[in-house]
Amino acid sequence: MHLIPRPARLTTTPGAWQLTETTGLLADPAAGEAAELLRELVGRPAGSKLAPAAEPGPDTIRLRVDPALADEEYRLSVSAEGVVITGGRRGLPFAVQTLRQLLPAEIFATGPDGGAAWAVPYVEIEDAPRFGWRGVMLDVARHWYPVEFLYRMVDLAALHKLNVVHLHLTDDQGWRMEIDRYPRLTEVGAWRAESMLGHYTEGRYDGVPHGGFYTKRELRDLVAHARTRGITIVPEIDMPGHMRAAIAAYPELGDDPGRARPVATDWGVHEQVLNVSEETIAFCRHVLEEVLEVFPSEWIHVGGDECPKREWEESPRAQARLRELGLPDADALQSWFIGRMAAFLAEHGRRLIGWDEILQGGLTPGATVMSWRGEQGGIDAARAGHDAVMCPHTHTYFDFYQAEPDGEPLAIGGLTTLEQVYAYQPVPAGLDAEAAGHVLGTQGQLWSEYLPTTAHVEYMAFPRLCALAEVAWGTAGEYAEFTERLLAHRRRLDHLGVAYRR
Ligand code: ACM
Repeated sequence: MHLIPRPARLTTTPGAWQLTETTGLLADPAAGEAAELLRELVGRPAGSKLAPAAEPGPDTIRLRVDPALADEEYRLSVSAEGVVITGGRRGLPFAVQTLRQLLPAEIFATGPDGGAAWAVPYVEIEDAPRFGWRGVMLDVARHWYPVEFLYRMVDLAALHKLNVVHLHLTDDQGWRMEIDRYPRLTEVGAWRAESMLGHYTEGRYDGVPHGGFYTKRELRDLVAHARTRGITIVPEIDMPGHMRAAIAAYPELGDDPGRARPVATDWGVHEQVLNVSEETIAFCRHVLEEVLEVFPSEWIHVGGDECPKREWEESPRAQARLRELGLPDADALQSWFIGRMAAFLAEHGRRLIGWDEILQGGLTPGATVMSWRGEQGGIDAARAGHDAVMCPHTHTYFDFYQAEPDGEPLAIGGLTTLEQVYAYQPVPAGLDAEAAGHVLGTQGQLWSEYLPTTAHVEYMAFPRLCALAEVAWGTAGEYAEFTERLLAHRRRLDHLGVAYRR
């Protein structure tokens, strides 16, 4: 059956059920959205309307919500009695993906089906994820992609039962979210004069302006689309470093307005960071207010990574502020800054998540850590009673090479093979049960300095994301068995036109 991710429990019996033109759909009122999803992803491509049925029977699909099941848990029964799907409060979209994968791969084709017989083998599946955070991050700042591609990434994430799409919306090289109160963020900050060519160490440029942004309306619609697929969009506004595009738009946000620079055209870490005035804190709060309006996500990502402290150390204004706040050093200033954002988010019933540098200078109460420089940040956070998402660059940075660089398109560096990804264990060895309980899950990162096209994003994401999805679902086993399933899964990706690495 070659399901990816592999379900927790599956038993088969001989025989197959047929999806036909006359198959009906009987859905609980609470399962209305899942019924629509089933019609879209299964009914339409199979040429079946899945018209509402009055009662269950051999030629019906039954969709039920059972609040007694865990949130993302589901049961799927396919037998001569018909198809019965039962899900926890958020389980049904994942069951729909399983049913889709149980059908012939042609169900993923966008053109005519060529007369495929829509048979589903008799199975009993009981399935639930091990981890509640199963994510993929897309960096839309280093390269902007059309909004249609964000939908495609959401759909591909959903196919693999991920539940988080994290959008890295701002960075030194571009600001991608429309903010009504600060129009220059996108008028100025969404555009750069050119981009680097080749590896950044070569210092070459293409001379071609690059940019783009997403309107709040576009992002709201994307959020709604993702929700029906069981996916939360987690937005990231990276601060107080990685803010050069915003400072280019509003120089007063920087430590020295005279030193503001245009939106960055080169990759790497930049010295220009936010100043630590109350006015700048207010700016960040205002931006986050609009972010909260668009994104209902419980977690809001505020970055916090790679904030060089030189400006704060050299700026008399920042030093005066440090003394006024009674803080010992610039690291403490970063922690103070993140703390202000955490307090703001908490006031609005949300939670802060940031890259592991938010541990520097002391971790803000309630903050969740995304551990990227390795696992230590996540380990320290979990031991201190904080939640953590494990994203070590060694295993989850999909901008790294996936095979020896010879013969691969240019990448930032590193080497993370499919097999390494598949072997990843999100709960680090040595954590006691309580700390292990703070490991929410894992996430793949698509940093986009070296991913100028959407096809290239897909090439780097797949099939490594297939492997990480199974790790996050908690059913990864023998690599050889996985690659065998992957071979069949590739036919689905082929029908979808995914430009994965073969
Ligand atoms: C990061 O890679 N700077 C989180």
